[in-house]
Amino acid sequence: MPGYPALPEGIAYGGDYNPEQWPEEVWREDVRLMREAGVNLVSLGVFNWSMLEPAEGVYDFDRLDRIVELLHSWGIMINLATPTSSPPTWFRTAHPGARLVDREGHVIAGGTRHSFCPSSPEYATASQRLAERLAERYAGHPAIAMWHVHNEYGWANARCYCETSAEAFRDWLRERHGDVAALNAAWGTTFWGLTYGSFEEVEPPRLALPGQLTALQLDYARFSVEAHIANFRRERDTIRRFGDQPVTTNFMIANCVAMDYWRWADEVDVVSNDHYLEAARAENHIELAMAADLTRSVAGGRAWMLMEHSTGAVNWQPRNLAKRPGEMRRNSLAHVARGSDSVLFFQWRASRHGAEKFHSAMLPHAGTDSSLWRDVVALGADLRGLAGVRGSRVEAEVALVWDWESFWALELEWRPSVDLRFRERMDAYYEALWREHVTVDFAHPGADLSAYRMVVVPSSYLLTEAAGKNLRRYVEAGGHLVVSYFSGIVDENDAVHPGAHPGALRDVLGLSVEEFHPLPENGTVPVGDDGLTGRIWSERIRLAGARTVHAFTGGPDAGHPAVTRHELGAGTAWYVATALDPSPDRAPGVPEGFRAPGHAPGVPEGRRDSGDRGDLGDLGDLGDLGGPAGGTGTGTERDLRALLRAVLDQAGVSRPRGLPDTLELVRRGRYLFLINHGEEPVTVPEVSGTGMLDGAAYTGSATVPAGGVTVVEPAGDA
Ligand code: GAL
Repeated sequence: MPGYPALPEGIAYGGDYNPEQWPEEVWREDVRLMREAGVNLVSLGVFNWSMLEPAEGVYDFDRLDRIVELLHSWGIMINLATPTSSPPTWFRTAHPGARLVDREGHVIAGGTRHSFCPSSPEYATASQRLAERLAERYAGHPAIAMWHVHNEYGWANARCYCETSAEAFRDWLRERHGDVAALNAAWGTTFWGLTYGSFEEVEPPRLALPGQLTALQLDYARFSVEAHIANFRRERDTIRRFGDQPVTTNFMIANCVAMDYWRWADEVDVVSNDHYLEAARAENHIELAMAADLTRSVAGGRAWMLMEHSTGAVNWQPRNLAKRPGEMRRNSLAHVARGSDSVLFFQWRASRHGAEKFHSAMLPHAGTDSSLWRDVVALGADLRGLAGVRGSRVEAEVALVWDWESFWALELEWRPSVDLRFRERMDAYYEALWREHVTVDFAHPGADLSAYRMVVVPSSYLLTEAAGKNLRRYVEAGGHLVVSYFSGIVDENDAVHPGAHPGALRDVLGLSVEEFHPLPENGTVPVGDDGLTGRIWSERIRLAGARTVHAFTGGPDAGHPAVTRHELGAGTAWYVATALDPSPDRAPGVPEGFRAPGHAPGVPEGRRDSGDRGDLGDLGDLGDLGGPAGGTGTGTERDLRALLRAVLDQAGVSRPRGLPDTLELVRRGRYLFLINHGEEPVTVPEVSGTGMLDGAAYTGSATVPAGGVTVVEPAGDA
């Protein structure tokens, strides 16, 4: 299987290139300016199906041939797309059965991309046929570095509820459960007497009254992921018949709730990701870091590609804030620091037409006499300086457990509190560790965790028995585990593990929970004697081997354990029974857009961004972005960070001390990335080597200017 694309050398730089939107004379200006900016890779033809196949079975590759030759003659490598995320209008007309149907039974209209059913056999045939034509024609071309199949699977058509999908779902259920008795047992259909007599009786989880079977909803979410993966595989395997360039598709790792990217990981030759900042979120560079770490983890630690981000504002948030001076550079280099070997944008040249004309681009409407263009050219030079970084690995000593299935399950209706949200705790723990300058990996709960000194489980409501045992083995072998409340509660079918909560983790944590006491809206509860404050949650813990570290000192569980530790085998398992915040006076800035939509029935679907964008499903409202602003990160002893610091110390996790948390510090191989997000210069001690961006010699310390980035290559083998 091919790995990372061999070419271009160094760090790939460029973006989506959509020349079909422009007359040919513009193309010549494009390539000249691409060279000026140092662009060496473009994703070509992501949306050009109607150009290539203007009528069903009628092909016209003339313009694409000319573009490919032009780019080749200028030495620009191509990531050739199959444009199958946006079928032409003839496809809709000819194949009405392939139209997307939403949960409420609406047939989704055309006039935009993605409006097809992922289980449609007509779509399968048409997309494969086009992929075959493209691969046959271009796979041997020396300019083609790699393939970009489709665009963002599941962006807006994550789940379709039409009859074709229903049939495909029934086949999938037969495969998964064998017979209907097994399905009934797994789904617990004796509850409310919802027993099925045959697979034919099973409907997709279409719009229903409250209380729809949650196991049905989870299986539908799983089935839908597989439907998209099947579409990808079909195209990928077709392409592989003609060439051996790597094949990828661009993920939306931190933004698409509907895909399970652990399942996608092994399907692609190289993991690639699209990341867009939530502009209004305070300290959104922390969320960027999290997305990059998650992408690297899905890539199994191998180099990955940043396939899209933006030079400035996007067009789909309520207020599309431009990036601040230096922000595009900091964002780009933070992705590289965390394992990306490319910096690619959506898109090369700002469009004049259509939905995205107010989206930033490498070449803005304002043209080359603009600071944005000058920044783009300067970034190209920076990346040339970082060529040596390519392929080096980021090593992490701490892992956060992340499971999309648990995300889906937690955010279904009728949980003990609407404040139980996957990203709320995930972001809180990530942020606390980020402020401690600890680089983390993410891991599936069933993964081999033995390489990590410390493992954190911020939100694993759904945890299989096998995963619970995996965590137990990790601790017994000497690991340090931190588990947050409402984890290990249900199995893969959303059935409560037998006995007291948390069934999958009772023995690991050395405790059980007698009763949950979720707090009222905005309620808080005091913890311990040092001024810790919990939000969202309180519960009555019964110790069974664990010891109390802090007790609740008020609220429904006053006098009972709030934070515990359990020595087990050679390791320790900590448990935190309330929501501590990552820094004083600051709840994590989880945007509303990332929430399950108002806990309306249904597994969250689609990408969590603006409903204004026209995505399917309730996408929430980005108008209410962010938690309280602020976050000085002074690191008092009264927050989650202080608690984690104690575990980090006990686990022996190495990290720099005494640096402000406006400074992002990441080691990638032997290279040290220092990104200053603050407004003051920061001097980092014990730094010696050469500045890769500015050629400076550092002997003993490096001062990173406000808003600046320094990358240091240590002298010799250091
Ligand atoms: C991505 C998509 C691009 C473009 C971009 C705008 O999700 O892949 O085609 O729409 O968003 O931010």
